[in-house]
Formats: sequence, structure tokens, C-alpha cells
Amino acid sequence: MGAPSGRGQWSSQLGFVLAAAGSAIGLGNIWRFPYVAGESGGGAFVLVYLICVVLIALPVMLLEISLGRATQRNPVGAFQAVRPGTAWRALGYLALLTGLGILSYYAVIAGKVVAYCVSYAGGMITGSAELYQGTSASTLLYFTLFLVLTILVVAGGVQRGIERWAKVLMPLLLITMFGVIVRGLMLPGALDGVRWFLMPEFAKIDGRVVLSAMAQAFFSLSLGMGAMLTYGSYLSKKDDVLRCGAWVVVFDTGIAILAGLMIFPAVFALSHDPAAGPALIFQVLPGVFAEMAGGGAVAIFFFFLLSVAALTSTVSLLEVVTAYFVDERGWPRAKAVWAVGGATFVVGIPSALDMAGIDPFTAVAVVGQTGFLSIMDFLWGNLSLAFGSFMLCLFGIFVWGLDRASDEIGSTSSVFHRISAVWRFFVRWVCPVSIAVILATLVGL
Ligand code: TRP
Repeated sequence: MGAPSGRGQWSSQLGFVLAAAGSAIGLGNIWRFPYVAGESGGGAFVLVYLICVVLIALPVMLLEISLGRATQRNPVGAFQAVRPGTAWRALGYLALLTGLGILSYYAVIAGKVVAYCVSYAGGMITGSAELYQGTSASTLLYFTLFLVLTILVVAGGVQRGIERWAKVLMPLLLITMFGVIVRGLMLPGALDGVRWFLMPEFAKIDGRVVLSAMAQAFFSLSLGMGAMLTYGSYLSKKDDVLRCGAWVVVFDTGIAILAGLMIFPAVFALSHDPAAGPALIFQVLPGVFAEMAGGGAVAIFFFFLLSVAALTSTVSLLEVVTAYFVDERGWPRAKAVWAVGGATFVVGIPSALDMAGIDPFTAVAVVGQTGFLSIMDFLWGNLSLAFGSFMLCLFGIFVWGLDRASDEIGSTSSVFHRISAVWRFFVRWVCPVSIAVILATLVGL
């Protein structure tokens, strides 16, 4: 299968790991993971999450990256390249829709992070401690701003646009988080939070906990909608898929755990409710910053870096859809990026209004979820990713063939042949069966 020319490639394997880690690490780790863990009982959730990451997400990750590298295409083109003219390409289209769906609300929350950064900066200049209160106009404005930033980066192409950002700023985020963790741990009562976050109470594990843990694993690792497939397609045939995938999982999971250690000690020390939901980090972190010497500056820096982490994630969401129009439809990159970005803007407006407290769809409830943004997150960020990962396993088993997938991964990995049989067993049985069971429970079958 010849790769279409002029697609661009990572400058090195490290470039891929950092960009894929950049896609994976984002609001999912620092905003979503703590609030879902908070709602699902702390340590018990964390334990189930780690199990899901290793047993379900990692095997799917290797399959997704290797399919991308083997075909050197976007999600629609990849299914098409392996089995032309079949209904499998619908799975590719679903991936594109999912990317657009997630991007539409993700950019709203990312906009809020930028707004906090600006608000702290403004507070330092004027000396006032008034924190950001989102009106519908400002929420829409920051959402638009964030989308435009994403569009500009993606328009720059793979290496210039994406890789350069990830290399410099991700390590800085890590360092800042350590600083905030240390300060949080020094607060009186902080250790209760550590205990709550790390000690599993097994009685708390139920179907809902397992479901949110699995969905969080897919979301956090950017799996199930072709992002890793597309990024894998920019890997060269010399790169080690196993090692790349494993590093991305390690980085991503590490940052999620650090985010928990940043939030929960402060939640307990400052007497917040761990189950406060999506607003959790926005309620808790300002309290920690207020306790820190030079907290205002740290806050600006932290929210700035979190915006960048979110940007490397939104970039991957937009990149997937863009790659389709560029590769399959022959659109110029700029046209594709602005068209997709524009559509995302329209779809995202109700989420932005919801975020600002004016929900246009209050009367609607989907499987127990209310609020437009939460419903979008549930449909695209939970359901569709799990379904996409399930279908990807079926595609690997019945169409592409796990032997061929193993060869693709094994061709550059000396270690893989030792675990190849285990991996095939997981992709053939463990992953699809557990995803199916959890999805069935979810829709109430
Ligand atoms: N993984 C990112 C996060 O944790 C979000 C994200 C980016 C994503 N690209 C994705 C989620 C593709 C699912 C699919 O913030």
C-alpha cells in the first residue's frame, strides 16, 4: 500500500511519542479524570481505571496505531485501503463525526481555562481578586478563540504545527504540577485526600464505576475515533509501535494520577465536595493558588500550560477530520481546516451556552444525563469511543487479520514476538467481550 505523497511525517520517533502524548494528555487527565474519580468514589475508581488502561486500552491502542502505520491513511482511508468498497468505511465516518462532536464541547472547556488564565493575569494587574465569571458572550468568545487557535496550528501541518509545541511545553506542565502538588500536600488535612484517592474501598465498585473507568480510559488515551490511527499514519516504517504506544500510556496515566494528587488533598484540606462534578477543578484550584506565595503567577502559568495541553489535544481532534478531506477529497489543507472548524463552531454553540448557565435543551435527558455539554460528552466521549474501539477490534479480528496486525507491530519491535500471542488473545477476547458487556449494561439491555 503506497502512502499518498506529501502527507508529512514526524521528524523522529520521539516526535510521535510527544505528539501522541500531547493528544492524549489534556483536559481529560486534568479536568475530567479528577471529577469522574470524585463522583465515583476515589480509590476504587482509580484501581478499576488502571486495570482498564492495561487490559483494555493498551491492546486497542497498539491495534489502532499499527493500522494507521500499515495503511498510512486517515480513518476512512484506512478501512478503505484494507477492504475497499465495503460498509467498514462507515466506521471511518463515525470516527470523523466523533472527532467533531468531542471537539465542539472540548473547546468550550478549553476556552474556560484560557479565561481563567486571563482573569488571573487581569487580577494581578488591577490588584483585584475577582475571579472569572463566565457570561454567555465571554464563554462564546473564548470558545471561538480556542477554536481559531486550533485551526491555525492544524493549518501549519504536522511537523511545524503540532510537534514543535508538544516538545517544549509538555515538560513544563509536569514541573508546574509538581509545584502545585507539593503546596497542596502541605495544607493541613491534605493526607485525608491522598488516602481517599489512593486507597480503594472495594464496596464502592459497581457497574457504573466500571463503565466510567473504561470510558475515561478511552477518552484519556484518545482511542476509538482514529486519532491514534491518524498519528500512527505519520510514523515511518522504522518506528517501534509497541514502544511508542507503551510510552504514551505511561505518560498519560502518570499525568492523570498526578492531577488527582493535585486536586484531592486540596479538596479535603479546603473542605470541598469531591463529587462536585465538572466544575471540580475550577472550584478547588483557586483555593490552592490563594494559599501559595506568588500564587497568582503560578495560577497564570498553570492555566496557560493547561491551555497548551488542551490545544495539543484539540489539534489532534481537528487533524483527524482534516486529514480525511485532504487525503480522500483532495482539498487544500487550509480549506479543510476552516470548513471543519466552522462546522465545529456551530455544533459547539449550545455547549457554550450551557457552560454559561443558559442551557437551550434543559428538557432533554439522555440515559440519565442532562445538560447539553454533559449529553455531548456522554454520547461522543463515552459511547462512541467505546463503540468505535469495539468495532476496531472486530475489524482487526475478521477483516485485517490479527496475524497481519502482529506482523506490522512485530516488524520493528524485537520484544513484541514474545507477547504477540498474549496481545492477540486480548484483542480477540478480552477487549471486545468486556467492552460489549459494559456497553450493554449501559444502554440497559
Ligand atoms: N485525550 C484527550 C484528553 O485526555 C482528548 C482527546 C484528544 C481525545 N483527541 C481525542 C479523546 C480523540 C478521544 C479521541 O484530554
